[in-house]
Amino acid sequence: MENTTNINELEAAKQLEIINELKVLYNQDYQKTGINKTYHIVTFGCQMNSRDSEKISGILKQIGYEETDSEDADFVLYNTCTVRENANNRVFGRLGYVGRLKKSRPGMLIALCGCMMQETTTVEKIKESYPFVDIIFGTHNIFKLAELIKTRLENEHTSRKHSDKMVIDLWKDTDMIVENLPNERKYSFKAGVNIVFGCNNFCSYCIVPYVRGRERSRSPKDIINEIKTLADEGVVEVMLLGQNVNSYGKNLNPQVTFAELLEEIEKIDGIERIRFMTSHPKDLSRELIEVMGKSKKICKHLHLPLQSGSSRLLKIMNRKYTKEDYLDLVDRIRAAVPDISLTTDIIVGFPGETEEDFQETMDVVRKVNFDSAFTFLYSKRTGTPASTMDNQVEESVAKERFDRLLAEIQALSSKSSGRDEHTIQEVLVEEVNSHDENLLTGRLSNNMLVHFPGDESLIGKIIPVHLNESKGFYYIGSQV
Ligand code: SAH
Ligand code: SF4
Ligand code: F3S
Repeated sequence: MENTTNINELEAAKQLEIINELKVLYNQDYQKTGINKTYHIVTFGCQMNSRDSEKISGILKQIGYEETDSEDADFVLYNTCTVRENANNRVFGRLGYVGRLKKSRPGMLIALCGCMMQETTTVEKIKESYPFVDIIFGTHNIFKLAELIKTRLENEHTSRKHSDKMVIDLWKDTDMIVENLPNERKYSFKAGVNIVFGCNNFCSYCIVPYVRGRERSRSPKDIINEIKTLADEGVVEVMLLGQNVNSYGKNLNPQVTFAELLEEIEKIDGIERIRFMTSHPKDLSRELIEVMGKSKKICKHLHLPLQSGSSRLLKIMNRKYTKEDYLDLVDRIRAAVPDISLTTDIIVGFPGETEEDFQETMDVVRKVNFDSAFTFLYSKRTGTPASTMDNQVEESVAKERFDRLLAEIQALSSKSSGRDEHTIQEVLVEEVNSHDENLLTGRLSNNMLVHFPGDESLIGKIIPVHLNESKGFYYIGSQV
């Protein structure tokens, strides 16, 4: 433990030094041209990637880059996702476009990072077909960004061919957690906070454990300190992030449970709302349900991925719970937190899925009555056990089931949404409505959206709002 801490601190100091070197260099440029260099980040995928992009932003701003809203910038970075095939295709599309932009922008740097880069085949393809890319790094070493930029700038003078100037730094896995580097926050009143990195579950369809590495938890001290600082800066809502937050603390010495961590966060003055994502049903403990039942700050929303309602398929998926376990868990959660909103993820067309298996999923959907569900067509990910199973479901069959599932979910949620119509609820005001600037948009504790007339100065505040009318996915309200 001690050793790792020392190494992490040394690494942070080294990176800060390089950030400062680049800052001096960029400032000299600015003195000559009077123009600041700009950066633009395109983020794909989940909240882990969004949070990583905030950290990348922090490093770039510290160096002296200014953020801009298009890819016509001096530094363009794609933070990629590879959880399903279509995520990958979108990145290659963007690369074609930005490559053409680069031709008319001397000195422009293009970088790629994130989960897709952890796959060797992707990197080979980029080296061959997109040699204009300048920097490639992965999910384990984003803290090294300044060092990679420095190396790329040095290569400019030493290498001739463009593809030889490319800096590629990919780590297979790491146990490093480098704290206290500069980082940015998209919102001033709510913030994502990593609590556990990586995943050890190896669900048989999923690429995440291969590209995000083994599970490692941040120390409770670092998490609490970060949240206290956020609270001092005016943050009222935190979203604790991990692929499986329920297994938080298992690799710490001494062990700490997720429920214990939540109890500590609950005590922090200024934090009014606590959310977390994602909960694996197999690790959702009785202790956690108890803490959720007692808590004044934990939001009344739980995202609990089901994946399938068939116990037979759940076993092959390596999810380690049965249909009955899942339903029992839902009953216990609802008994402890009666007004909780439940949402889920479901995969349709997993190898070997029969109509009977699919009906089991439909049965759980009807029994639980989720407030909403993200539904995905199974996507074959090279390297996962499911990708070589020989009973892959035909696309047309999977698509037809997918449509039936979606219709069922929509029918059910349109019946149950609007439960809170005509009541007064606490709302965290988040932004001016993107379609109508006279309206503000906020969220209830259960994550439902509310639009209501109000002044911009309310953004970031938690206020009571009367929910006048339900519109399915959102309410129209008025301030009380
Ligand atoms: N760690 C989270 C989710 C990670 S990925 C969890 O365990 O719940 C987000 C969602 O993508 C998953 O819940 C799953 O429903 C979906 N997903 C993952 N791999 C997939 C694949 N190969 N094909 C289709 N959907 C997939
Ligand atoms: Fe993927 Fe399963 Fe880990 Fe979630 S818990 S990231 S689905 S392996
Ligand atoms: Fe995608 Fe990586 Fe998240 S694969 S879903 S960005 S962990």
